[in-house]
This record gives sequence, structure tokens and C-alpha cells, in this order.
Amino acid sequence: MNQEVIIVRGNNTLAGDVQVAGAKNSALKLMAAALLGQGPSLLHNVPHISDIDIMAEVLERLGATVSREGHTLAIDTTNVDSCETPYELVSKMRASISVLGPLIGRFGEARVAMPGGCQIGARKIDMHLVGLEALGVRFEVDHGVLHATTPNGLKGAHVTLEFPSVGATENMLMASVVAEGITAIENAACEPEIEDLANMLNAMGAKVAGAGTSLIEVEGVPLSAMHPCEHTTVGDRIEAGTFLVGGALTGGPLTVHGVDPAFLPMAIMKLRAMGCDVETGEDWVRVSRTEPLTSVDIQTLPHPGFPTDLQAQFMLLAALADDVSVITENVFENRFMFAAELMRMGADIELDDHHALVRGVAQLEGAPVSSTDLRAGAALVLAGIVADGETQVHHLEHIDRGYEDYAGKLASLGADIRRVAVSALGN
Ligand code: EPZ
Repeated sequence: MNQEVIIVRGNNTLAGDVQVAGAKNSALKLMAAALLGQGPSLLHNVPHISDIDIMAEVLERLGATVSREGHTLAIDTTNVDSCETPYELVSKMRASISVLGPLIGRFGEARVAMPGGCQIGARKIDMHLVGLEALGVRFEVDHGVLHATTPNGLKGAHVTLEFPSVGATENMLMASVVAEGITAIENAACEPEIEDLANMLNAMGAKVAGAGTSLIEVEGVPLSAMHPCEHTTVGDRIEAGTFLVGGALTGGPLTVHGVDPAFLPMAIMKLRAMGCDVETGEDWVRVSRTEPLTSVDIQTLPHPGFPTDLQAQFMLLAALADDVSVITENVFENRFMFAAELMRMGADIELDDHHALVRGVAQLEGAPVSSTDLRAGAALVLAGIVADGETQVHHLEHIDRGYEDYAGKLASLGADIRRVAVSALGN
């Protein structure tokens, strides 16, 4: 498709109501989990984003049929007859590794290409492998392809994760539900998307308890006991947090609908610490601000700690706050690329390994900038909305991976924003 660029004019405000989509980081795994049932599952509230399209391609390559109607995906796994996911697909989206656990559960084996790293880090999968090996899986790497076998079947085990890895927890969970006996996952990731996945697995016949806490316990059931189901994806807390930052930046009031406020405890705490008023309801969060932004220190940590996926967005807030903020990125080894782009717009940021020292400035200046990853791209567009003058944001493919109609939603909140083909620039 012809490269596009977002052009946004600044000195603007964002206010009003916006509906967030279903969570990208849940829906991708729910799609993989459908492999554990034989027949048609229905997934509702699935966002229209390119990562979902790639996961659909992965499932179709395995023999499933995937069709979409609005925000509902119909996934029929009746004819799934392959356990292979090639590098050409995994290299498009590393989250394809989420099929590893369910393929092992369904076939007792899997051949999945090793995912590469990305801009934000090496994105290793050693904890996935150690956890699955504890369940009886044996791995061989053959020319970059992971070949998983279960010579003695899947057996429940008590496993303690070295780090509460989201992906490792999910892959272990999806294999353990059909392992023989009891599995306990200690130091499991507690992200809301893990609980969403467990709820779908239980709707399929699994017996999972404790998801959303750091101790998940699973009583294995036979694969034949797993059946297709209908499930609704939880709202996307990171999309919600991104729009809330937009409201905080310009004063709002801005309300995000379709997300449980309990999914955003730390982001809400930090918005209030920076001088915002935040109100919450059952499935909505409203932010407004009349006072100047106050500087704040942020440490990204596994949930319920501050989410790394909101780090760039809050760095933008800090860049316009009244004093100096220290932001520490503890989850990924290289997630400060956004800072370099923001400095081109006039931000005053000093980087030192995992720390960013952000000195607030009065105003940012519009400039041509490039998305480096999904969340940095989204934050750059927000920067353009408050900066003086025009900002062009390039490499929208990153944003399109995880935000459905981002420019359209921002326009509905008052942004002066448009997407144009790169070829149309300059005339
Ligand atoms: C998921 O990635 C999300 N992606 C990420 O969102 C999110 O930032 C991350 O969780 C943390 O919340 C999806 O769900 C598709 P991890 P994941 O395993 O599962 C290291 C976004 O913007 N690690 O918790 O890969 C790893 O390198 C994306 O939506 C190992 O070393 O996260 C990282 O530094 C970005 N070995 C840290 O742990 C392993 O075996 C956290 O990784 C696994 C992970």
C-alpha cells in the first residue's frame, strides 16, 4: 500500500468521548486459544488492526478458517491439520509465538519459527521454553525453527517464572489446560489480558484458577473436553491510556468508554499526581485538567505496576510539566527511542541507560518525525496536537498495528489531523 503520513496541526485541544476497541494484547492470544477447541468459536470486540490480520493468516495457514463481521471474528478450527508456523509469518509479527502453547496442546508437537527481536529489545523467549519444558515439552532448534515434541505427553508441574513474562505465562497456560494433572504457575504475569485469556479457556472447558494474580493453578482436562466458545475481548487499557494522555495534555475533558478503570490503576494514579482530575465509572474514565502539569517520577513494571506500553505517552506529558521528571524503563532494554524524536520537537530529555531525565518546557514545535514502535508513534501524534505548527508523522505501519482508526478517533475529539499519501506531500 502506498506509504502514508499523518499531518497534524498543533496548538489544538482534545475533548469529548471516544470508544476504545478490544485489547490487541488479548485478542491475539484469544485467537490462538481457539486452536484448543474443535469447531467454530466466535470472538467479539476484536479491533480492526493489522496485527489481527496477521494472526488470522497464521491460523489460516494451520488450516483454520477466519472470517470477520464488524468487530466479531468467526474462527473455525475443524480442519486445522498443521502444526507449522513459518518464519515469513512470525517475522511479520512476533506475537505469532502465542500459537506455540495451543499447538502443543492440540497436536503434542509444534514447529514454530523463532521470533526475532524488534526496536524495543531482544524479545527473547527463553522463559517460554523453560516453562513448557517443565510440562514435558522437548525443544530442538532446526535452522531457526523451534521443533517442540512431547515424548511422554504433557504433564502438569509446579513452575516458577524467573520474571512475570506475559507471553511465557500465556503459552504455559494454553499448554497446561490439557496437560495431565495439576499445574501451578508461580510469579505469573498479572496483566488483565491474562485473566481474559483464562476466562475464554474456562468457557472452552478448561479449569484455570487464579488468573490475574501471580499464582495460577490449572487442573488439566483431556483435549476432547475442550470445545469452541463465544467470548468478548476486554477493552484495550493501553489505547484508553493513550487517549487519556491526550486529554491530560490539552485539558479535556476527555472520556474513554469501553474499558474497566481497574485495568489502569497506575496510569490513573500518575495522571492525578500530575494535576489532572480523573473520574471513573463502570466502563469509562474521564480526565480533565485546569492546573499546570506537575512533574512526576515513573518506573515501568509488570502489572499492576506502571505499564511500559504507556511510558512514551507519559514522557510526553512530563516533557510539558513544570519541573524535572525521572522515567525509568525496567521492562524493555531499548524503549527510549521516542525521546530522540521528541527532542526534535524541542523536548529537553537526558538519557542515561534505563533512565530518562525529562525537564519540562513551555512549548513543543511541530516537525517531521518517525514512529519507531507502536506506542512511540501514537505518542508522536499526540505531541503534534499540542506542538506549535505542523507535524508530519511517518511510518504509520507501526501505529496501524495496534490502533484502530487512530486519526479518525482523534479528529472526532477535535484534532486537526489527516492521513495523506507520502507521494502527495509537497504539492
Ligand atoms: C507483551 O509482550 C505485550 N505484547 C507488549 O506490548 C507489552 O509491552 C509486554 O507484554 C509487557 O506488558 C503482546 O501482548 C503481543 P514479556 P511480551 O514476555 O509477552 C523479556 C505493545 O506495544 N523476556 O512480559 O513479549 C522480554 O524481552 C507491546 O502492545 C525474556 O527475557 O512481554 C522483555 O524485556 C510491546 N524472556 C520482558 O521480559 C522471555 O522468555 C517482558 O516481556 C520472555 C520475556
